Amino acid sequence: MADLDGNVSAKNFHPDVPAQRFTHEIRGAANLDWGMQNRLARILDPRTGRTVMLAFDHGYFQGPTSGLERIDVNIAPLGEHADALMCTRGALRTSIPPATRAGLVLRASGGPSVLKELSDENIALAMDDAVRVNADAVAVQVFVGGEHETRSIRNLTTLVDEGYRAGIPVLGVTAVGKELTRDARYLGLAVRIIAELGAQLVKTYYCEEGFEEVVAGCPVPVIMAGGKKLPELDALTMASRAVRAGAAGVDMGRNIFQSANPAAMMTAVRAVVHDDLDAADAHELYRSMTETAVPA
Ligand code: R5P
Repeated sequence: MADLDGNVSAKNFHPDVPAQRFTHEIRGAANLDWGMQNRLARILDPRTGRTVMLAFDHGYFQGPTSGLERIDVNIAPLGEHADALMCTRGALRTSIPPATRAGLVLRASGGPSVLKELSDENIALAMDDAVRVNADAVAVQVFVGGEHETRSIRNLTTLVDEGYRAGIPVLGVTAVGKELTRDARYLGLAVRIIAELGAQLVKTYYCEEGFEEVVAGCPVPVIMAGGKKLPELDALTMASRAVRAGAAGVDMGRNIFQSANPAAMMTAVRAVVHDDLDAADAHELYRSMTETAVPA
């Protein structure tokens, strides 16, 4: 209890200064509760409004993945370069140090393996477990146009409702089936549905034509998905084009951890996302870091 003896009377009330309005730069977040805005700010760096998220949740449907054989060895050290980590709770609890400073986006849907129909997902995480591990968001796959479209959307809306109760945002992930084209028309449809149904963040693939319209038509931040491994310069070019078209950063997996030098690739991606470095310059940065790296 405060000591009342010798208490100095409070008088610096700045009566001429209007109450501060802390406007949030995150798209669509101005009317969210404080906890949700705070969690979003742990994913999207408030200095740039963008994120470099490292995705390594692939095991939830495809088991061991090249580059993810030992998450504790290969991925945990990359955490210091990431604004946020996107992973399963299994990977988190077994292989990621609790002292990590990165934001956390937890995989919350799953069910079928790569051997089955991938859209046949259910919710695979209780919100109180997300709270328990201090997640900053939960991620759910949404299969617009997929066989189990309606259920995947129900998964999304259930998590959004639970997320509001806990103050945890939801990242809706556009899952493009084999038969669906990754064009602006489809991606624009998918991201808009996901945002309108309540996700506070959306992750989607990049498309060469019309990506700025995909982003402009989505009332919440759009984060670019990485996709299959590309040559480093191509991946950096895609990331650069996406953020220049309005994306709030990237969520990349294989293009980071399957790179010959994942730490250097993360540094180069950060330069593109947060410093708006040209892809060619970022690639030069990647090359110089790789050439000077001491072999293990
Ligand atoms: C994407 O929908 C899933 O979350 C993936 O497991 C992961 O995020 C994919 O990352 P990338 O395509 O960049 O390897």
